[in-house]
Formats: sequence, C-alpha cells, structure tokens
Amino acid sequence: MREGAAHNVRKHAIMRPRVLVTRRIPEAGLALLREAVEVELHDSSAAIPRDVLLAAVRGKDGILALLTDRMDAEVFDAAPGLKVVANMAVGYDNVDLEEAARRGVRVTNTPDVLTDATADLAFALLLAVSRRLMEGHDMMRASAFPGWDPLMLLGHAVAGRTLGIVGMGRIGRAVAERATGFRMDVLYLRRGTPPQGLGSERWHPVDTLDELLAFSDFVTLHAPLTPQTRHLIGAARLARMKPTAYLVNTSRGPLVDEAALAAALRDHVIAGAALDVFEREPEVHPDLLTCGNCLMMPHIGSATVEARDAMATTAALNLLAVLRGEIPPNPVSRKPSG
Ligand code: GLV
Repeated sequence: MREGAAHNVRKHAIMRPRVLVTRRIPEAGLALLREAVEVELHDSSAAIPRDVLLAAVRGKDGILALLTDRMDAEVFDAAPGLKVVANMAVGYDNVDLEEAARRGVRVTNTPDVLTDATADLAFALLLAVSRRLMEGHDMMRASAFPGWDPLMLLGHAVAGRTLGIVGMGRIGRAVAERATGFRMDVLYLRRGTPPQGLGSERWHPVDTLDELLAFSDFVTLHAPLTPQTRHLIGAARLARMKPTAYLVNTSRGPLVDEAALAAALRDHVIAGAALDVFEREPEVHPDLLTCGNCLMMPHIGSATVEARDAMATTAALNLLAVLRGEIPPNPVSRKPSG
C-alpha cells in the first residue's frame, strides 16, 4: 500500500466513532457495528466488572449495554463524549434516564423483537407450574416414579380459568392472545383505550389491582420496574389472591417482595409461583429454594436464537442511527412504556 493510502486508512480508522459492547452478544449485531464503527468488545460471557466498565467507556461515543450493566452518572462522567446507550433489552431500569438526559445521551431499547419469546415463556411457566411439571420431572430424574396413581401430582386446570394480566403492554397483550386457545377470560387494569388483539372479546377491564388479584386463577406480571412498581406484589396483595391461584413473573424481580412470596408459598396462601426473574439476580431468596411449589428459571424470557439475534441487530441499528445524527428507531422516553 502506498504511504498516502496507508495514512488515509489509519486516519479513517481514527475518525470512526468508538463503541463499547459490554459483553459477548450475537454476531449479527457485532457485524453491523463493525462495518461502521470501531468496536471494543468486552469478550466475555459474564457481566463486565464495574471497574473494567468505567475504564473502558473512556473516549467512547456509544455503548451497547446489557440489562446487567448499571448505566448511571458515574459511567456518563467517565465518558464525557458519550452520545448513546443502546440497551439490548426491552426493559431499561438499569439506565438512569435523568442523568442521561442531563448530558444529552440518547437511550434506546429493543421492543417488539422479544415479545413473542417472552410471552411464550410466561405461558410455558403458567402451564408448567399449574401441572407441577418440575416435581414430575424431578421424580423421573430420581427414578422415583411409583407407577400411575389417581392422587399423584394433582395440579389445577388451566382451560376456561381466569388470567389476570398486570401490564397490558406488548408482552401482556401477547400473553392474553395465547390464552385464547385455552378459552380463558382475561382481566386487566383499565387505562385509556381498551387493548385489542386476538380474542380480545374475552379481555375484561377491572378498576383496581386488588380486584384483579381477587378474581384471577393466574396472575402474570408484565409491568416495567419503576419506583411505583417496586414490591407491587407483597404480603397484603398475595393475601388477596385465591389460595388456588398461581403467580407468574417474567418482567423484573423487584416487582415482587421475594421474602413475602416465599412465606406465602410456604403457608399455601397461594398455590404456586413461577419466576423467571429475581429481586437480586443472580441471587435467589434462600426461602424460595425450599418451596416445592415454586418453579424458577434463570431469566430466559427472551432466550431464543431468533429473539436474541433480533435484539442484537436492533440495538446495533439504534446505536448507529444516533451516531449518524438520526432519530433512532427505538428511543426511550423518560416514561416507561412497558
Ligand atoms: C429482558 O429482560 C429485557 O428487558 O429485554
């Protein structure tokens, strides 16, 4: 290569925006980024340690972040030229939006592309916990199947029952649509224009959360984590539920007071719970571990190849749009939309 050309290549590389990707993500997203920006990848399957993050953000124009990364004033101060945090998640409670706005840092998320995956998991959990699949599976694995027994592992019916959905956003509505095939009635909290979707003639608004809890056979949570929703479900609200009812949570762990839930499960205040998210991930309240009527999954709501590829691509496209000075496809407003 002639010296001038080599100089131009170097200059071009120097001029390209610099982006930190905080953890290994699907290649589809990385490839998009590498075409247009200089990518520094924290090449690990574990969350980036805080001190490494604070050092790595220096001089970056953009961060592709995961829900395990706290994006707050300290991070923004360490990266004064930062223009965008593209969160590879629909939830963005890990990002301090006030501090970002104060510094002119755009924040984006990845809605829609994980709606079906997360709704599928919520429904899978609902079916699994009510039919006691985890106990049956454990019995088989332990070679402890005693033979068919008319009273063994009795659960509760799903078809024709009532499903209470807390948070009738994209994922809540997708769960409601799945309930149609099970001829379920759906209860949701009345807010503005009634939601529409497959089978919405069986979706009924109620005025209060207490009403929803009292009449539902299954309660599934699909609200964002905000100061208002933290510990939305505690001891008093669990006591409003039917003793035959199940709680499903695929949203964010802190919506549920885990200690209160463990006590309610132990005392059979409700029949069971199925959780994909926890208050202090990856820790789980020790009392939950001893509850046979609690099904637990390691936060895998959007964990399909298809959804994760689309999330990585969406986050990359959002990030690149901001760096080009365009309005990104999925800007996050200060009011979470669920
Ligand atoms: C996952 O929990 C997400 O918010 O995308």
